[in-house]
Amino acid sequence: MREKILDRSTLDTALLARLDAYIDSLKGDKQEQLIHVLHKAQELFGHLPHNLQLYVAHALGLSGARVNGVVTFYSFFNEEPVGKYVTSVCMGTACFVKGADKVLERTLNLLGTKKGEMSPDGLFTVKDIRCIGACGLAPVVTINEKVYGKVKVGQIDDILSRYRGEKRAD
Ligand code: FES
Repeated sequence: MREKILDRSTLDTALLARLDAYIDSLKGDKQEQLIHVLHKAQELFGHLPHNLQLYVAHALGLSGARVNGVVTFYSFFNEEPVGKYVTSVCMGTACFVKGADKVLERTLNLLGTKKGEMSPDGLFTVKDIRCIGACGLAPVVTINEKVYGKVKVGQIDDILSRYRGEKRAD
C-alpha cells in the first residue's frame, strides 16, 4: 500500500469513536497490539479498507505500510467487503497434493465468483489460504468457523447448499 493522506470522510464517525475507545482501553504498548486493534476494526466496519488501515496506523504511530503488511499477511483480515460466509480453501502443500486446487475451482464455479470477490448473491466470499495446521484432514475447507476435512470435489455443492438455506446448516 502506498502511503496516502488519511481521509476520514469515508469512515463512519460513530464507529471510529468506538474504535478509539477500544484503543484507549488497551494497556501497555499499543503498537504491540496491532492485531487486536485490527480485529476490532474489522469487527466494527466489516472489513479493513485502506483508509481504515491508515487510521489505525495513525492512531498507533505506525506506518501505513506496516499495518498493510499485517493485514495482507493474515487471511482472516479482509481489505474488501466480504459475503456472510467466508469460504476458505487451504492451498498448503498437504491440501494441494490432495486436490485442493480442484476443490477451489469447483467452489468458484458453483458460486459464480472469483477468488477474493463476493458471490453475486452476496452470501459468499471465497479465499485461498495457507496451511491452517489441520493437514491430517487435507484437503480442508472452512466456512466461517466451521472446518470441513477430507473434502471431495463432489461434496462441495452439498456443503454450500447448507449455507444457501436449501438445507439446515450444521
Ligand atoms: S496444508 Fe492444508 S491444513 Fe495444512
